[in-house]
Amino acid sequence: AGYEHHMLKEIHEQPVSLRNAMGGRLDLRSGRVTLGGLSRLGRELASFRRVLITGCGTAWHSGLIGEYLFEELARVPTEVEYASELRYRNPIVEGGTLAIVISQSGETADTLAALREVRMKGATVFGVVNMVGSTIARETDAGVYLHAGPEIGVASTKAFTAQVAVLAMIATDMGRRRHLSPERTQEILEALETIPEKVGQALQVESQVQALAGRLVDRDNWLYLGRGVNYPVALEGALKLKEVSYIHAEGMPAAEMKHGPIALIDEGMPVVVVAPRDSTYDKVLANIEEVRGRGGRVIAVATAADPDLERLADEVISVPATLPILSPLLTTVPLQLLAYHAAVLRGQNVDKPRNLAKSVTVE
Ligand code: G6P
Repeated sequence: AGYEHHMLKEIHEQPVSLRNAMGGRLDLRSGRVTLGGLSRLGRELASFRRVLITGCGTAWHSGLIGEYLFEELARVPTEVEYASELRYRNPIVEGGTLAIVISQSGETADTLAALREVRMKGATVFGVVNMVGSTIARETDAGVYLHAGPEIGVASTKAFTAQVAVLAMIATDMGRRRHLSPERTQEILEALETIPEKVGQALQVESQVQALAGRLVDRDNWLYLGRGVNYPVALEGALKLKEVSYIHAEGMPAAEMKHGPIALIDEGMPVVVVAPRDSTYDKVLANIEEVRGRGGRVIAVATAADPDLERLADEVISVPATLPILSPLLTTVPLQLLAYHAAVLRGQNVDKPRNLAKSVTVE
């Protein structure tokens, strides 16, 4: 489609892939989510006592965002575990456990093994999968396809945002059946409906991000910080950068930086801080001051115009505002572009990074 790499095409496809992931599934008139796979669980959805999410790599990151979504919207205790750890830890699966298995390919060996383990122990297993007819999709009790279209670039981009959107829809539906008011449900559905368009606006930061990548690409160590639902975004941003550009990057909750990683900060070290205006915003500003005080170079991802951040950070990348709980769908976009442009500037094979595979079928 005229793009230089699949990864860039897939980043730019997100307004469409998100529309497809949510298309026909948000019913604003009745204030409901209509997901075929979910309706198979029916009333059970209101009675699950626990959600257990599993996956690998980027899918695990979307699962971490899912934890915030399920706990905030459905008020159900939620745990997220790497599939490769879950399967070997003799997991405790009590009655009333909904296991959500996330996989783009539907073929990841560890994820499949974790699925079989929790299913054998009595969990209801729900798949969030992109590849239609894949093994994971076939072995779950019910599920939702992402409809994100084929993802070719090894580094996952559009599948990640589609996973987050689908988890948000499931959590909203579960919440509606429990305690969410019709007004709050409606507010979430309306916000989800506008996400594809806002992702399109977020993509407009590309030339700014490309120039930024040009200035920082010679730095070999980066930190990514975020709080709350944007902490997994920091993890995903760091993973994207290391996967495709081979720059060493670490993501972490912003407040954890002071418990060790702050020792790494020296003059000019790039520190990407995801800083939307939510309940943790003031605390994030304090973290930015800590970084600045040690000579770090702060790249802040903000929601809408933000004079405070403009003053504090070396560079501010602004994406549109949305409900705080849905902000990862927007704050992720500039981080994907940053990884892509850093990789291109370093002359790496963006779509097929060394040592990586699109689908990992070994354990
Ligand atoms: C591989 C890919 C990652 C992906 C992970 C899980 O490591 O390179 O991009 O996140 O597998 O894959 P899945 O297909 O299960 O989502």
